[in-house]
Amino acid sequence: MRAYLVEPMIQIRSLTKTFTKNGEKLVVLDHIDLDIATGEFVMLLGESGSGKTTLLNILGSIDTADSGEVLIEGFGDILSASDKRLSEYRNRVVGHIFQTFNLKKIYTAYANVKVPLLFGTVSVRDAHDRIMRALERVGLAGREQFRPPELSEGQCQRVAIARAIVNEPPLLLADEPTGNLDPKTARRIMELLVSLNQDDGVTLLMVTHDVSMLEYAKKTVSLEGGRVTVREK
Ligand SMILES: Nc1ncnc2c1ncn2[C@@H]1O[C@H](COP(=O)(O)OP(=O)(O)O)[C@@H](O)[C@H]1O
Ligand SMILES: [Mg+2]
Repeated sequence: MRAYLVEPMIQIRSLTKTFTKNGEKLVVLDHIDLDIATGEFVMLLGESGSGKTTLLNILGSIDTADSGEVLIEGFGDILSASDKRLSEYRNRVVGHIFQTFNLKKIYTAYANVKVPLLFGTVSVRDAHDRIMRALERVGLAGREQFRPPELSEGQCQRVAIARAIVNEPPLLLADEPTGNLDPKTARRIMELLVSLNQDDGVTLLMVTHDVSMLEYAKKTVSLEGGRVTVREK
């Protein structure tokens, strides 16, 4: 047992997820137990098809599970929460970053970052301040009116990160956030994520299959055959 300085932010208990493909049952997550403490930066590793995205999507409440518990500090079990509570969870607790950015091409950077605020109760004035703060935080002050086709790939991922942090969530999930970037741009994005973790105290769970990214995290979780193995430096 490891000793925690703080209570775990996420306690995953016996989490199981199966898909049925062509009539065959595929067990992607097989009774997984995993703790992630507040402020940790955890890398989730595994071969393509090992279930990394599935696990991240369950934690982000984008996907459901078959059984088990996902206990989030200050919130409770997301797997048994009502839809109303889950939209609160998506809005306030968790931010999600994707490999392909998932930006709206016809929206400006400003409008893309605004999207999560459309579902909340933030005033127009507050929304504006938050959007500007988030864009500044990712190094895009002055680019508010640029649209994704007018931005580099690294800048697009910065817009996506700004969108993920605009509600200042304590938890950030990143699914291969550097997978589409050249090595130099990838390093810059990693430095931003590390800074969000170390300077802003955001708990970060990041998926990668790029072993050169492992140096950034103290803790690695490997997913294989539906089970996890935890390694700490
Ligand atoms: N909606 C789905 N329906 C059926 N099978 C799926 C679905 N989503 C993922 N899978 C399967 O689950 C396994 C894990 O997928 P995924 O979590 O995307 O893996 P990874 O992100 O590690 O590459 C794969 O075999 C994939 O084909
Ligand atoms: Mg994936």
